Amino acid sequence: MTTAPSGRGGQAAPAKRETFSSRKLFILSAIGSAVGLGNIWRFPYVAYDNGGGAFLIPYLVALLCAGIPLLFLDYSVGHRGRGSAPLSYRRLSRAAEPLGWWQVLICFVIAVYYAAIIAWAAMYAWFSITKAWGDDAGAFFDSYLKTAPADEIGLSFDFVSGVFFPMLAVWIVTIVIMVAGVNKGISRANAIFLPLLVVMFVILVIQAVLLPGAMEGLNAFFTPNWEALRNPGVWAAAFGHIFFSLSVAFGIMVTYSSYLKRKTDLTGSGMVVAFANSGFEILAGIGVFAALGFMAVASGQAVSDVAGGGIGLAFVAFPTIVSEAPFGAILGVLFFGSLVFAGLTSLISILEVIVAAFQDKLGWSRKGATLIVTIPVALISMVLFPTTTGLYLLDTSDAFVNQFGILACALVTVIVLSAGLTALPKLQRHLNRTSSLKMGTGWRILVGGIAPVALGYMLINEIQTKSTESYSGYPTWFNGVFGWGMAGALIVGAILLSLIPWSDKSKLKDPEYDEFDAALSAEEAAEAAQEVKK
Ligand code: ALA
Repeated sequence: MTTAPSGRGGQAAPAKRETFSSRKLFILSAIGSAVGLGNIWRFPYVAYDNGGGAFLIPYLVALLCAGIPLLFLDYSVGHRGRGSAPLSYRRLSRAAEPLGWWQVLICFVIAVYYAAIIAWAAMYAWFSITKAWGDDAGAFFDSYLKTAPADEIGLSFDFVSGVFFPMLAVWIVTIVIMVAGVNKGISRANAIFLPLLVVMFVILVIQAVLLPGAMEGLNAFFTPNWEALRNPGVWAAAFGHIFFSLSVAFGIMVTYSSYLKRKTDLTGSGMVVAFANSGFEILAGIGVFAALGFMAVASGQAVSDVAGGGIGLAFVAFPTIVSEAPFGAILGVLFFGSLVFAGLTSLISILEVIVAAFQDKLGWSRKGATLIVTIPVALISMVLFPTTTGLYLLDTSDAFVNQFGILACALVTVIVLSAGLTALPKLQRHLNRTSSLKMGTGWRILVGGIAPVALGYMLINEIQTKSTESYSGYPTWFNGVFGWGMAGALIVGAILLSLIPWSDKSKLKDPEYDEFDAALSAEEAAEAAQEVKK
């Protein structure tokens, strides 16, 4: 693997930005980011809770109408802006900088709970060997997390060492990778973890579909519940999930694409990433539901009775399958091991958004920024989640940060970029300049017209639902503080962070960036002249 210029040249000119040393490594890292807990832990339960097979329809609509178009939008902003999310948006307009910080703060919230799930998965890979949960995986999950009873939600923050120590390990591994930088750390980790994940996961799915009763589960997964399609909440869940899963609209793809070389096929790479991600996700659904089918048949119940939805699906239903299935221990190690590898490569990308933002804004070195940012994030994560309220906190933060973080931020971003700054033609030209698959007016209509209407409609509905019904039946004050309060604080925080002065104002117009822009304008002028001649 070659190493790109590290930027430690010592010249007076701004340090050269590190770039992925090849497009292949970028694609690998972008897939590593996209394929994460979202695909293996979140997708099966979200699909299950939102109409089973019918969910595939809003899912595909969300992928094609918003996921992929917004993925390209992220690429164009990051690749053109050649900076972290706040810097890339700032280079479009001063008014757009808070969007970048909003995305950074969303990443902060996701990172703190994401590490907890990776830690649970690491422990469950270990538990799988002895099937430590005995014959009641549900009770074991609660006793492992020492989850407080429902009437103590939010009141009991007792320490849970069985979650704390694996979380500590997750944070140490992640920080070590990140300190090494884009090429030596991020690319290398993805080049190792992703192939490992694919091999493990394919073996897992094959083992699962060969289980007796697998077809029952697949029928449950693929049989549409058409009624569910009338529920706007199902559509909101699909759009929210697609963004989470593709790592779109919360800064990751803006940041990663800013590390791409100038001449890169952006849209072609994006298609590979999007289809690899969804392929993996549907494969995860097949694997999990095939295993659920096995369990249903073995226990003489319906799939819906064994599947118990919600965030416990992976940690309650799957262990039960591990106990019953032939070679169950292998199935368990493969499943939970896959969660760990998929989670780590995504956690790295989530944190990179925060590290790059502070590095740009405050002029810190790579190592300095990584340590100053990731250590406090790790500490906050390890104070909040290895506690008896950790599970409830995770449930509420995940639901609200998706709907009122990512969805709302995506909505505001498309409105600001299309109507506010009329930047779509510029971004479209940027995409088309370096990409094989050219974006036409259709892309602008999807991003500037259809996406805002669809996202706006869903968001209003979600606000109505979540403000009239208590989310998951949790106390109003709990959802108020950790759900609504957290989502609102992200917006206030984003505005405040954007007011902090840039340590180096010349960065807002760095020479490399000007050159990039000038080349684009020259090309446009030439094209316009050609048109006139015709
Ligand atoms: N895209 C990442 C996931 O799916 C965040 O988990």
